[in-house]
Amino acid sequence: MRQIENDIKNNFPHLREQSSREIYFYNAALFDMYVSFIKAHPLFVCETFIKPDEKKTVVKIVKKTTPSLQERGMSKRDVMQRAKKVKNDEFYTRYEDIEKEISMYPLEIWHDKCVFCNCDDAVGETRTEKDSSAFALYFIKNFIRLNLKKLICTHYSGQMDLFQAGAKGYIFTKEGVKEMTKMPKGYTGCFEDPLSLKILNEEADIVCTNPPFSRATDYWRTIINSGKKFLIISNFTNCKNDKYIPYFQKGQVWAGYNRVDWYLNPKRQVVNASGHWYTNLPVINRPKYKNIKFMTLKEIPERFKKYDDAETLIVDNNFIPTDYKKPFAVSVYPILSGVLEKGYKIVQAKQYRPYINGREVFARVLIQKENMD
Ligand SMILES: C[S@@+](CC[C@H](N)C(=O)[O-])C[C@H]1O[C@@H](n2cnc3c(N)ncnc32)[C@H](O)[C@@H]1O
Repeated sequence: MRQIENDIKNNFPHLREQSSREIYFYNAALFDMYVSFIKAHPLFVCETFIKPDEKKTVVKIVKKTTPSLQERGMSKRDVMQRAKKVKNDEFYTRYEDIEKEISMYPLEIWHDKCVFCNCDDAVGETRTEKDSSAFALYFIKNFIRLNLKKLICTHYSGQMDLFQAGAKGYIFTKEGVKEMTKMPKGYTGCFEDPLSLKILNEEADIVCTNPPFSRATDYWRTIINSGKKFLIISNFTNCKNDKYIPYFQKGQVWAGYNRVDWYLNPKRQVVNASGHWYTNLPVINRPKYKNIKFMTLKEIPERFKKYDDAETLIVDNNFIPTDYKKPFAVSVYPILSGVLEKGYKIVQAKQYRPYINGREVFARVLIQKENMD
């Protein structure tokens, strides 16, 4: 028994509460992992089931926990006005999408690193994976395998929290888990709050999350200016948007490996939105290079070449002319497939909106082959 206890202690230290030393299952999935570990242990004997007693009708005295509007000093109108301002940022990342992307990077990049998930609830209200961030869940589950030093998750309680129940933060280390209880007054868990910025600047090594779509420009500015490593999900078309183009041009960000098309809404229904991973971590042997079709302009089929009203060449379907000296326009696909790593650069300063026969067609990215004289 002692050996099993020791093995459990060694394998789940980050789930232990620092004060009580009890193992604490933040999510049902972590408990399942714990049970599987015990069942797979060489000293495991057998599993027995205890039949629960017949259900008795119990009259429960439910403690009222949600304060009334009156107690909050709010009117119904205040609540409605707050609710109206809520932008729909509640697209939750699926566990499998995180697993798929992270599996592409070498394990060593996480070694002894502090990962900061700054838009993530590690411990949802129901304490199940249904309302906990899959980022938090992934890093807690893989804490030992990735050999992390620390995982810090902070959660925003701003717009969606009509009753302002308060921000949440958790710190996981090899010694155990600690809830951040001493939050400064007015801390909302916003990635721009002074405490979040202090964690970002002083503790974080790698930031990993799916930030709010409605705050993406501010989020990118904050993370990129911090100089920290990051792996985040954002809109599929960012590389043709002038707010983000300078980051691609300066080589401060590039596409991660995968696109992300499916998310969960607050009811945990699968919903569609076009996202992609972006990072400043090394992307090695990008599998999507093979999607780019490099050939001379002449070889590119006519139906994928056209000129806009300003006589700029537009090339579609992932074709890239290798002998064209002037800037030409492409969709976001070759950019996300890594064309900027193959000797091409983005040359536009602002959004490029082509017109053909006076009609606006969809925006593209103007690129040019480097070192063409
Ligand atoms: C796209 S969701 C993704 C949530 C989680 N990171 C995930 O991947 O499942 C973005 C989250 O950021 C939260 N959020 C909104 N504004 C925020 C802010 N200013 N700072 C931090 N988080 C914010 C939203 O409430 C929402 O839960």
